[in-house]
Amino acid sequence: MTRLVTTKQELRQARAALDGTVAVVMTMGALHAGHLALVDHARTLADHVILTDFVNPLQFGPEEDFERYPRDLDADLRLVDGLVDLVFAPSVEEMYPMLPPMVTVTVGDLAAGFEGTARPGHFAGVATVVLKLLLLTQPDIAVFGRKDAQQLAIVQRLVGDLDVPVEIAPVPLQREPSGLARSSRNAYLDDAGRQQALALSRLVTAVEAAAPSTTAVLREIEQARERQEVDWEYAAAVDPATFAPIGSDHRGETVVVMTARVQGVRLLDTTVVQLSAP
Ligand code: PAF
Repeated sequence: MTRLVTTKQELRQARAALDGTVAVVMTMGALHAGHLALVDHARTLADHVILTDFVNPLQFGPEEDFERYPRDLDADLRLVDGLVDLVFAPSVEEMYPMLPPMVTVTVGDLAAGFEGTARPGHFAGVATVVLKLLLLTQPDIAVFGRKDAQQLAIVQRLVGDLDVPVEIAPVPLQREPSGLARSSRNAYLDDAGRQQALALSRLVTAVEAAAPSTTAVLREIEQARERQEVDWEYAAAVDPATFAPIGSDHRGETVVVMTARVQGVRLLDTTVVQLSAP
């Protein structure tokens, strides 16, 4: 049976009663198959799973979709019933008695480009809530999707730099049968939007086929941007440790990140490739 807890005190008590290892899956709700893949993965790694379901106001800019972000706790509970031990779904007041909080986590250069440029303050908000949720849920393992590649890199640095005793377990990005990366925001797209959005996964496929050649990968990215099938915000190949764009002499693991707007909706996609040739 899955138990819903909404206060920090209830969570602490329920967490203390869990024997064995615990994995946490952090979400902002509007759960879909992509989240279930995180839950499934978490279940293979630990004896118990806690799912957090909280739309974190700190990570939304003033012009962003915090108010209209999809929320349906009942549907979320139905979806994970029996799959997780606890769902922690606090109110904003419960999480942040003082909003904005006076003390937050700052993130360095890793948060400077890409999502960090497009969404100033976003990663400070993410890092702050992730640290709070780690402290509240006290997990052995925290599962994060590879889809938010920059977020994953920042969370890995957060636990390393601040010595948070938790293992971060990355889970591959989940796709719809069409290839579209699963996202709660896909719910905003109509059929035409979904078709148009496939430009992102097509670029992923092209980049994967172009590896291990660095030049070929960079060319695919440039050509996709020139085609303008979607309103690209960015598409780039970056070093996974620094998120600095790679040059043509780069070899080794490379993360390809991309964001485009379709019907006003910001969509992300990403892949990891190994580059070993010019
Ligand atoms: O990836 C998300 O859904 C959010 O950024 C997270 C990690 C749950 C923090 O609010």
